[in-house]
Amino acid sequence: MKKLVTLVSLMICMWSCDSQKENTQDKFTCVDVEKQIRYCEKQLRKSVENLDPQQKKLPRNIEHGEATWSCSHWSGWTAGFYPGILWYMYEATNDNYWKEKATEWTLVLDSNKCRDWKDHDLGFVMYCSYGNAYRLTKDTSWLSPIYMAADTLMTLFNPQVGTILSWPWMKRKKGWPHNTIIDNMMNLEMLMFVAQMKNDERYRQVAIQHANMTKQHHFRDDFTTYHVIVYDSARPVPLQKVTFQGYADNSMWARGQAWAIYGFTMMYRFTKQKEYLVQAQKAADVYLERLPEDYIPYWDFMAPNIPHEERDASAAAITASALIELADHSEEPLRQKYFQSSQKMLATLSSEEYLADDKNHAFLLHSVGFKPAGGEIDMPIIYADYYYLEALLRTKQFKEKYPNSCM
Ligand code: GLY
Repeated sequence: MKKLVTLVSLMICMWSCDSQKENTQDKFTCVDVEKQIRYCEKQLRKSVENLDPQQKKLPRNIEHGEATWSCSHWSGWTAGFYPGILWYMYEATNDNYWKEKATEWTLVLDSNKCRDWKDHDLGFVMYCSYGNAYRLTKDTSWLSPIYMAADTLMTLFNPQVGTILSWPWMKRKKGWPHNTIIDNMMNLEMLMFVAQMKNDERYRQVAIQHANMTKQHHFRDDFTTYHVIVYDSARPVPLQKVTFQGYADNSMWARGQAWAIYGFTMMYRFTKQKEYLVQAQKAADVYLERLPEDYIPYWDFMAPNIPHEERDASAAAITASALIELADHSEEPLRQKYFQSSQKMLATLSSEEYLADDKNHAFLLHSVGFKPAGGEIDMPIIYADYYYLEALLRTKQFKEKYPNSCM
């Protein structure tokens, strides 16, 4: 009997030592969220003290050799990111100073609620700003501008095709009768939110149809994405599959793939439709397989002069943020895979090479906006900062939910 007890205790000890070993091996170091948020706060204080909301222009990029943000019009596609960053900083610090600044800068966008459509980007503009304002304050006065913008976005939906028209001006400029870009997945978040708030199926149906068509036509067999699908305007039939901001029609433009991962993860959050989750996972898997060792993509995965091509910190930040949510929706071992990958991305972004620090007012250096047109190459761009801070906050929430996920 004594022998049996000893044997069982020995087995229990071996099992527990083994599982302890496994746990320690599984654990890895997460980005130091608190340290990086303090860094972002220091940078943000510099910019907010230097900018004047009365000018009605919002930070977009920092030119080479400059320290301060170049700003663009309140209706531009990047206009919502700076107010969004200020809201995230309020969320991170709970400091009313940031709430006041966020409120002030969000109101700069007010005229977007009643402007006519220009393109599909109203979702980026109004949801990153007003959406976060409502999420954090629950003050219902933030809602009506979002509702109005959603109604405007809905007018770009073509029911004969089943997608939202991304770029109306491309009809004339390029002869693209109805065009939809992969980025457009991001603007569905505003529609899904409004559907939920107003309990109105119309917004949800448009978003779902758009996502389904995107799933069907934007992906190649290997789950890399086309940037632009040009459709016949009277039938759900693709006429061309091309790029605008990527290297080539058949290449994987890094930010486009990032929008796809983020967009389908977000659609899964709202619908719980398994096919969206699987699409996000496949899009993430091919992106991860083809990344360089430091987890920051070249601006296009097939850019011709790799390794002498620019990296795109914005794509890395968007993907890092998306992967944390994707990890949360996924089962093990994918959960660990996506979360650890996000942390590797954030680790490199949080290194001296990528932090702007004393060089300028941004959080991050080295983003690429539109290389084929020679625009915004290797500079700080506002949306990289937005998704970087979002990813830091998501890391914090993930660690709270899964305390053993990292050290
Ligand atoms: N939505 C435009 C871009 O990603 O550059």
